[in-house]
Amino acid sequence: MANLQKRDLVSIDDLATAEILELFHHADEFRDNLRNWSQLCGGTIMATLFFEPSTRTRLSFESAMLRLGGGVITAADEKTTSRSKGESLADTVRVVGGSYADILVLRHPEDGAARVAARYARVPVINGGDGAHEHPTQTLCDLYTLWKEKGRLEGLEVVLCGDLRYSRTIHSFCYALARFGANIVTLPYPGFELPDYVLHRLRRDFGVQAAAASVADLPGIAGSHNAAAYLTASKPHQLALFTNLTAHEVNRIDAIYMTRAQRERHSGEETKNYPRLSSHTLRAAAAKDARVMHPLPRVDEIDYDVDDDPRSVYFRQAELGVPMRMALMAFLLGRIQLRSSPPALVSTTLGIQAGAGLRCRNERCITNGEGVRYLTRDFRLRDSESPPILACAYCEREVEARFVGVAGSQQVFRYNAPEARRLRTEERVWFESEAQALAAGFQVAGRGPENAGTV
Ligand code: NCD
Repeated sequence: MANLQKRDLVSIDDLATAEILELFHHADEFRDNLRNWSQLCGGTIMATLFFEPSTRTRLSFESAMLRLGGGVITAADEKTTSRSKGESLADTVRVVGGSYADILVLRHPEDGAARVAARYARVPVINGGDGAHEHPTQTLCDLYTLWKEKGRLEGLEVVLCGDLRYSRTIHSFCYALARFGANIVTLPYPGFELPDYVLHRLRRDFGVQAAAASVADLPGIAGSHNAAAYLTASKPHQLALFTNLTAHEVNRIDAIYMTRAQRERHSGEETKNYPRLSSHTLRAAAAKDARVMHPLPRVDEIDYDVDDDPRSVYFRQAELGVPMRMALMAFLLGRIQLRSSPPALVSTTLGIQAGAGLRCRNERCITNGEGVRYLTRDFRLRDSESPPILACAYCEREVEARFVGVAGSQQVFRYNAPEARRLRTEERVWFESEAQALAAGFQVAGRGPENAGTV
């Protein structure tokens, strides 16, 4: 039975902005003397379940727990676990999260896996990276580093560079940057731009406004392509459609966040001429006070001679991971309290069940992977207007639900038909298309205006 009181960190959205700031202050205290806290979590055990390679994330979690006085059990290689025999994640965490361990840290190759673990484990679950979805504790380390370096996050100009499509660190980081009022310049490797579902969220939930960016002042990494975008965290009333782009000159940069090509998630795509940051790049006037960030591991994206530049903070990000993770675990284990309230929607419960209707369109989502065997397709209603937008409750990929039906009568209506509006939320079954509804055995009964509300 799920422990409804527990808090998990699956997405960076699971922490309120004020809570994150409080955690920074706790991390500062832990950092003052890392060896002073061995009584705080005495008697507790953390399990790390890492089904993908890791150096920093797993070892910093384990170090953090040992410094808090707790114990650590670890599965660092899926080949040594029952996953290799076909055991489901749900079964694994049901067993490990209980008498074996009081808190779980999971790394998994499938998008949305951490939400599955949070759902089935009785103890708090921390997402150590699930597929290309999110990596919220890396974001805590990134924000904490930037906050310490710059003294604030609001109004900062942050350049995100490289593989923005598959980097889970980027996805969590840009939601948080938008929330803290930082501006984002994206410098993707062509074909590896921020995914649409991330851009939609930035626009809808954070009122982020987009413009084309000119970053010609960054020699080397900007390359010859011109796909830079400027994403401004703005007030909702300033919200503009992404199609109305006005050019923005980027002349001050506070941070350049490089990422490696996430080759393990590519399907054979070439990454020739991948962006590379050199000391030459850092001579640009706009980069004078920039901090160079990277979640690591670095492959070739940052030249080694940049390491000695005082503006390089990537090893600091990794170092601050220990006190930051100490603060997070002490909080989730109830050993320190935060004064701030949790976010309005703490996602320990799932959303509406799509039943016979929708299927997540993300082929890497756990609901289309190992979860086919046991997960129901759960979605959250993100936007009930024209047409309704539903997001997969695990990986958050969005679909437009243009048809809505009712299970009892097997009838389906276009979302804007008068009959559809009369349906109670809990009896609705959603479909993307008429064909999907027909395939599920529903009859189309009410069509409504064909083109109304098309976005
Ligand atoms: C990142 C990851 O695993 O997503 N590494 C990390 O946790 N610091 C980044 C990466 O692998 O490129």
